Amino acid sequence: MIPDKVPKEDVFHGSEDLKKTAHIPSFEIYKELYLKSIENPDEFWGDIAKDFFWKTNHTGPFLDYNFDVTKGEIFIKFMEGASTNICYNILDRNVHERKLGEKVAFYWEGNEPGDALTVTYRELLQKVCRFANVLKSQGVKKGDAVSIYMPMVVELVVAMLACVRIGAVHSIVFAGFSAESLCERIMDSQCSLLITADGFYRGDKLINLKLLADEALQKCREKGFSIQRCIMLKHLSKEAEETLLGSQSPPAKRPCSDLQVPWNPEVDLCWHALVRGASDECEPEWCASEDPLFILYTSGSTGKPKGVLHTVSGYMLYTATTFKLVFDYQPDDVYWCTADIGWITGHSYITYGPLANGATSVLFEGLPTYPDVSRMWEIVDKYHVSKFYTAPTAIRLLMKYGREPVQKYKRESLKLLGTVGEPINPEAWHWYYSVVGEKRCPIVDTFWQTETGGHVLTPLPAATPMKPGSATFPFFGVVPAILNESGEELEGPSDGYLVFKQPWPGMMRTVYGNQQRFETIYFKKFPGYYVTGDGCRRDKDGYYWITGRIDDMLNVSGHLLSTAEVESALVEHQAVVEAAVVGRPHPVKGESLYCFVTLTDGVTFNRTLEAELRKQVREKIGAIATPDFIQNAPALPKTRSGKIMRRVLRKIACDERDLGDISTLADSSVVEQLFHNRCRMAV
Ligand code: PRX
Repeated sequence: MIPDKVPKEDVFHGSEDLKKTAHIPSFEIYKELYLKSIENPDEFWGDIAKDFFWKTNHTGPFLDYNFDVTKGEIFIKFMEGASTNICYNILDRNVHERKLGEKVAFYWEGNEPGDALTVTYRELLQKVCRFANVLKSQGVKKGDAVSIYMPMVVELVVAMLACVRIGAVHSIVFAGFSAESLCERIMDSQCSLLITADGFYRGDKLINLKLLADEALQKCREKGFSIQRCIMLKHLSKEAEETLLGSQSPPAKRPCSDLQVPWNPEVDLCWHALVRGASDECEPEWCASEDPLFILYTSGSTGKPKGVLHTVSGYMLYTATTFKLVFDYQPDDVYWCTADIGWITGHSYITYGPLANGATSVLFEGLPTYPDVSRMWEIVDKYHVSKFYTAPTAIRLLMKYGREPVQKYKRESLKLLGTVGEPINPEAWHWYYSVVGEKRCPIVDTFWQTETGGHVLTPLPAATPMKPGSATFPFFGVVPAILNESGEELEGPSDGYLVFKQPWPGMMRTVYGNQQRFETIYFKKFPGYYVTGDGCRRDKDGYYWITGRIDDMLNVSGHLLSTAEVESALVEHQAVVEAAVVGRPHPVKGESLYCFVTLTDGVTFNRTLEAELRKQVREKIGAIATPDFIQNAPALPKTRSGKIMRRVLRKIACDERDLGDISTLADSSVVEQLFHNRCRMAV
């Protein structure tokens, strides 16, 4: 997929117009600043820190760290001794110092066209302060974890920033996750409070969110963990109208008559009733630089999700700076990131980065295909979106429908396009560039992870010549390297493990409650380096090309899933004794889930069982993990020592007969049989 040589005509440059106003107008300036950022990070980030409010200044070294497990505990510290509050920096200062109170912070666009709402910085600050007071009245204190399980509504941002204001640690769980996944995350974070909503629509589909939240709390109770309070926002029920002050139009599909809202008076509290009486003044809690800011769970290769912990000052500086420079943010921009806040992209580039810059963003509740496949472009025209950020999977999905749905809308306001979440294939890149951006918008292909907090490999739009499919070069402060299997750094054009040699402010600090797991996953394999888990190739011009995960993780529609997580959901079904899951390339989703299952003696494989297994995985993890293929595997290919040979299973899933060296295989007749019965069509 990665070309050996990119022809000159396939290298793209930002326009001269863009260079005139850009923060980083040329590749030479990028290189100069990049050198400064890695040779003298204290000065580089110290200058940036001057634009923020610090209650107290840092006392220790600006940056202190150890990446080498052989030298002791891994740690990363930025600006020790300083104290600040992110909510104060991104709301109060925008309202009071920068006089942006009347500027729109969010254009909220509901699932249903016509259901829309505008929130200014002043209104957002007021809502956040009220809800922060509500949290305090419920006994939430600095350092307490709060779980949030909400749809894409303004109140989700309000809930997260209210936590930040009082120094509580938010743990947002994507509203597409199952009750079981929510329960697991609640228990791991040991939170005392859950914030949720009654329900929401995704396209035509009604999600009874409170029902799922209650199921999760019940599961927690059964496992001996009780949550005392659950605050529920009425988004679809009748009273939801109260939240629509300032709404531009009446809510379609709301109130909703099919909604099921179980209510437990001992635990449940109504968001609206609580905020009604709350004061809109709330003094921010000043937090130390390395105090926890949030936990966000991401799939772990053992199957148990890991709580990635980010801390206050470094994350604030890094998301604000990457947002400003990578999207070349200008004050008149209208920015739209289509991610869900339940993922890191939504944390860093819907909430923190844009608000830190005083930006106006679109917050979209719906889907790119509802009510039709022009929805994205309709929204771009409606709000005059200038900077647009989405995932390759969405681009590939829309590509299928051709140009006409895109060209129905003008898109004249667009100036920059971005992608995130998975490698973008050159075909999708070209379609995005030519059809959506009409060859006038640079594309920033941003490589990063939940763990990195913000972009780490990315073009800067006016400075970096773009090669379709390459995330190009490191962002300021980031020092990548490519290692071979023995841990040696490779120079020049090379292929191997992508690692980072020193920390940047926004990187994760630990796995919540499990420092040992943090060190094992990211630092043990190659002492002295942070290991991303991705393969990477560097070409002769020094461009980085991500080649995909090299661990047992799959990337389905830009979402990471561990094969172990899906396998354990499958074997929990009584009919399954063993399961092995591999990725099979998919034209839209990037990868699809191909599952091999060995059944209990006497059980027959049929459509009903297949449907049950699919349901089982959906209920255990969530709809994103629904298997695409399930194959009955009377036996799995194993080495003589009993290890499943996934490499062989991957070949079977893709019907590739060239198996390479299979001399360690215990019984090769198993492979023939699996080839013979392989699934040809996804269900
Ligand atoms: O494999 C890489 C892929 O997504 C992984 C990180 O997933 P997650 O933590 O869920 O965060 C996704 C959003 C930042 C990476 O290890 N990935 C992300 N962006 C790119 C990418 N692969 C190639 N190119 C990208 N631009």
